[in-house]
Formats: sequence, structure tokens, C-alpha cells
Amino acid sequence: MKPNIVILTGAGISQESGIQTFRDADGLWENHDIMAVASPQGWQQNPELVLDFYNQRRRQLHQVQPNAAHHAITKLQQHFPVQVITQNVDDLHERAGNQNVLHLHGELFKVRSDKNPELIYNWHKDLQLGDLAEDGAQLRPHIVWFGEPVPMITRAADLVAQAGIFIIVGTSMAVYPAAGLVHYLPSYTPVYYIDPNAAPIAISNPLTIIREKAGTGLPKLVAQLIQED
Ligand code: OAD
Repeated sequence: MKPNIVILTGAGISQESGIQTFRDADGLWENHDIMAVASPQGWQQNPELVLDFYNQRRRQLHQVQPNAAHHAITKLQQHFPVQVITQNVDDLHERAGNQNVLHLHGELFKVRSDKNPELIYNWHKDLQLGDLAEDGAQLRPHIVWFGEPVPMITRAADLVAQAGIFIIVGTSMAVYPAAGLVHYLPSYTPVYYIDPNAAPIAISNPLTIIREKAGTGLPKLVAQLIQED
């Protein structure tokens, strides 16, 4: 039987599309106060600053395209059952044709009621103060901010627990609970970690670190997995 392939992605997979990562030199968190733009406290103190930050991100997302790494996943899913778990809020996986994509940290092209997390809307333009949900509450970005629960983590952990092969791409593995997902892996599941700056991960699974950019490292790994199939 074909192994389930689960792929955990982070900002690095979209870097070659032209989207800045968070923690690299010149990353977003070097030029923005993380708590001011990505926390409930920041939202309370200065909602305009928060909206402006995500409006810039949303505008940029209209300008970029999926890259070779996203397309490699589309190829892989022609041969294996593939599940993507992404920390990214962009929609580049979907635009490349990746089919099973779970967004752990929300989505830039969605907004939600500030009062009711279930009232979610598609949103492709700038979001302003005064844009309201059906319940009359201000709309806010559909992003999981620091200090907020990660509702999709339970589903993600269930998927990781069924992984026959686990691939990690372009994440510093610095943010929890996402980084803790590796601890749900079956102990025999091989792990591949593609990231030019990958640091060793404290797991007992067979681990192959590939210190390459996603756009070259992932297509190569995909070709290898398809050949071995
Ligand atoms: P980080 O900015 O922490 O890490 C990006 C990783 O991508 C680093 O390990 C880089 O070495 C790697 N990288 C850079 N260019 C790459 C390339 N071309 N190919 C492959 N890898 C490359 O981003 P994340 O790990 O995604 O949360 O950060 C996790 C979360 O922290 C994000 O989802 C975000 C952030 O705060 C929210 O905004 C809610």
C-alpha cells in the first residue's frame, strides 16, 4: 500500500515566490513589532496598524505566483495520497493545485467577525475599520495571532499520526504548537527536512536533512520518491 505523505510547510516554501519569511535576516519580524501587528493586544491598541500590515500582505499576495516547490507537491499527489499542513497564510498551495491543504495559522484571503470566530468570509481587497460582519462586529484578519488558540492543531496532529512519510519544508520550527507536531509521528516514519538553515530536530525517527532551497530540494525529493514507488 502507498504511504500517506504529510508535508508541513512554512514561510520558506513561498520565499522563492517573493514572499518574505518572518525570522530570516530582513524578515517580517525584523521590520515589524510582532506583538503590535500579530497579537490580540496589538489589535486592541492600534487596529489601524494591524489592518495596514495585513492589507500590505494581501496586496502583495495578488502579485506573486506559486513556485517549483508548490508545483512539485501537485506532481507528488499524482502518485501518493498527500496532505499538506501549512503555517502559511498565503494561498500558493491551492493555486498550484495542491488538494488537501490545512491552514494552521489562518488565511490572508479570509476575514472574520471580531466577536464570532465561526463567521468567516472570503476577502481579497483591503480591510478597513467599519467593515462589519453580519453580527455587526468589526471584521478582522482570519489569522491566528500570538497568544490565540490554534483550532486546527488537533486535526493536524491526527493527520501527522497517520503519516507514512513526513516532509518538512521551509520552516524554522520555532513556533508552537506547529513545531510540536513531529511528536505525533509514528516512530518508524521517515522524516525529510528541506531548509537551507535546517537545524537538527530532537526526534528518534530516521531524519534526512536537505539544506537546499525548497524550489530545488523539493522537486528532487519528489522525483526520488516517485522513482522508488
Ligand atoms: P520563519 O521565518 O520562522 O522560518 C522560515 C524558514 O524558511 C527558515 O528556517 C529559513 O531558513 C527557511 N527558508 C528561507 N528561504 C527558503 C527557501 N527558499 N526554501 C526553503 N526554506 C527557506 O517562518 P515559519 O517557520 O513559517 O505565524 O514561521 C512560523 C510562524 O511564525 C508563521 O506561520 C507566522 C510566524 O509568526 C503567524 O503569523 C501566525
